[in-house]
Amino acid sequence: MSKFSGSGPGEQTNDGCSVEFYRRLPYLGELDEIMGLLPAHSSVMELGCGSGRLAARLAAAGHRVVGVDDSAAMLSHLPPTVSGVHASIEAIALPQRFDVVLLPSHLINHPDADLRSAFVRCAARHLVAGGVFYLKRHDPSWLRTVQTGFLAERDGVRYAAEGVSRQGNLLTMTLVYQAFGERWTQSFTAQALEAEAIEALLAEQGFGKVQWHGEKGLWAEARLAHDTSQERARGGYA
Ligand SMILES: C[S@@+](CC[C@H](N)C(=O)[O-])C[C@H]1O[C@@H](n2cnc3c(N)ncnc32)[C@H](O)[C@@H]1O
Repeated sequence: MSKFSGSGPGEQTNDGCSVEFYRRLPYLGELDEIMGLLPAHSSVMELGCGSGRLAARLAAAGHRVVGVDDSAAMLSHLPPTVSGVHASIEAIALPQRFDVVLLPSHLINHPDADLRSAFVRCAARHLVAGGVFYLKRHDPSWLRTVQTGFLAERDGVRYAAEGVSRQGNLLTMTLVYQAFGERWTQSFTAQALEAEAIEALLAEQGFGKVQWHGEKGLWAEARLAHDTSQERARGGYA
């Protein structure tokens, strides 16, 4: 059974992230594997931007960044270099189009297949013709093997797993973060997704050939297979 919840000091988002934890967490290199691929001075839409850790990095690299999140508390911490939009990814429909849409933080591993499709549709309806979509998935072998117990300690954060259970390709667990003298938890369910599953999902929503990036091939890059601007102008591409 899927569940999203969190605990610890401060507010938690709908998906169980702790605002105070993400607000204090520095950039930990999450975009390093794709940063150099983005065209210079792009307009970028980050889906699920949180407090702007990654968005701030993109802005500092010279991109114009709009961050979308359904947590007002997260958005209240965005730096002035990032424009925030308070909305759910599945419902947002901005009049602007972007050179790049980014779906980081393993949001694509949501257990609800309809929501996964809606995330990809959101990217499709916000891209300029020839724009590029990047998404990051969880390592499926990690989802299949992670066990309850200590996971790692790096960059001042201690990570542990609690309550790990599996049902088919679904993993439910609680991640425990200890940092800054505090303890936060995030409980979630994630669907393991092999490259082929993501490629099929992207193709269903009109994207062409997928290129995989990064040491473990967890970043997908895709462009719309044809120019959808005319459909969008007719209102037929929602
Ligand atoms: C794990 S946090 C990561 C935030 C940021 N990308 C980072 O790395 O610091 C995930 C964020 O996505 C947001 N989020 C998750 N699902 C969402 C949805 N369906 N619509 C809008 N925001 C969502 C959460 O509110 C949270 O702020």
